[in-house]
Amino acid sequence: MPTLREAPADAQIVSHQLMLRAGLIRQEAAGIYAWLPLGLKVLKKIEQVVREEMNRAGAVEILMPTLQLADLWRESGRYDDYGEEMLRIKDRHDRDLLYGPTAEEVVTDIFRGYVKSYKDLPKNLYNIQWKFRDERRPRFGVMRGREFLMKDAYSFDIDEAGARRSYNRMFLAYLNVYARLGLKAIPVKADPGPIGGDMSHEFMILADTGESQVFAHRDLVEMGAPGPNIDWFGDLEPEVSRRTSLYAASDEMHDEARFAAMPEEKRMTARGIEVGHIFYFGEKYSKPMKALVTGPDGKDTPVQMGSYGVGVSRLVGAIIEASHDDSGIIWPDSVAPFGAAVLNLRAGDAGCDEVCEEAYKSLTDAGLDPLYDHRADRPGAKFAATDLVGIPWQVVVGPKGVAEGVVELKRRATGERQTLPLAAALKVIAG
Ligand SMILES: Nc1ncnc2c1ncn2[C@@H]1O[C@H](COP(=O)(O)OP(=O)(O)O)[C@@H](O)[C@H]1O
Ligand SMILES: [Mg+2]
Repeated sequence: MPTLREAPADAQIVSHQLMLRAGLIRQEAAGIYAWLPLGLKVLKKIEQVVREEMNRAGAVEILMPTLQLADLWRESGRYDDYGEEMLRIKDRHDRDLLYGPTAEEVVTDIFRGYVKSYKDLPKNLYNIQWKFRDERRPRFGVMRGREFLMKDAYSFDIDEAGARRSYNRMFLAYLNVYARLGLKAIPVKADPGPIGGDMSHEFMILADTGESQVFAHRDLVEMGAPGPNIDWFGDLEPEVSRRTSLYAASDEMHDEARFAAMPEEKRMTARGIEVGHIFYFGEKYSKPMKALVTGPDGKDTPVQMGSYGVGVSRLVGAIIEASHDDSGIIWPDSVAPFGAAVLNLRAGDAGCDEVCEEAYKSLTDAGLDPLYDHRADRPGAKFAATDLVGIPWQVVVGPKGVAEGVVELKRRATGERQTLPLAAALKVIAG
């Protein structure tokens, strides 16, 4: 847990500063980071939330390679178009490879190898894998990295109506993901690209440091997520259109006339961090790559596809932007690197050690994955470090309390403290 008192001067935004100070990441090259123990734990927790919500919505996890054959991208016609953002590599046989910036070609290749009939549809395959984009200006730490972790899902349907149902499932699953991460995300209309239509949304977290401009109806911010108990394979159109009927657009899709027509108090202009992007692109890859499926009429047609990205590593930064104070990070319980910290203010003192070990064991048994700080450090330094790294609960054990049979319990988010017997403190934490 290599915490720093000061953030390096080149960290411009608070989440980047706090990620460095709390020892979550270490920069290895521009836009390329090593994940240190605490950062990795948070990253894995976010990944798991994303995974659970994808599975719930009927998507199936696979793992595609980071290195891809250039020949696949030649088939789709994107190899030459992609430009300098693509990291191109040659192997010892002089074959062109690339480090995948995204995986439409690979997943289309997998799909066409196995699925031939509409009877096997719909399908949604996803993976959570590192991507590389040689961004011109990597910045803000993990927010705009060159190497970054993305969840990318791909849907396959026989027709546009099916594709819309797949799209709606992902639209609502995304809202559930962000809600579980303690975030208020708003879906905004995004550029649908050449095929047009209304099936393209970006999910934005409001924050002053966001790189995108957002114009939206205020009610969208408080509308919340549908929750896990919707009928995922039923009619989701009402849940989706309740949201898409309210105005929300990023700057390239902004329609000032429509925005101005809304009541003044409902008009919201803000900066946003793009934490997800979903869109429907029909036959863009299936046609050139000949991913054909036989329909009920016995005819072969290119499968209808959509893709759905979540910026998993970017979310670590986005959550911090949304949840911190002057003392450091305030992790939502769902992604905190440790559920609770046990602070031994006098390590080596038999009484303190005994209470701490009991607290540590009970918290472990309760599944809270506690952190035990038994360093021989000043109490002030321990408090500051625990606040900085944002552990949701602190159980503070000192000789005075031990003599009286009590500990101090602190809730990081509110700063609220209570003095109470250990058993009672454990009850409060367990909720
Ligand atoms: N350079 C990056 N660093 C971190 N996360 C990124 C980066 N580029 C994209 N992402 C995340 O991956 C998600 C899906 O990417 P995509 O929409 O394909 O990227 P873009 O918006 O740059 O075209 C984005 O919504 C964002 O959260
Ligand atoms: Mg995008």
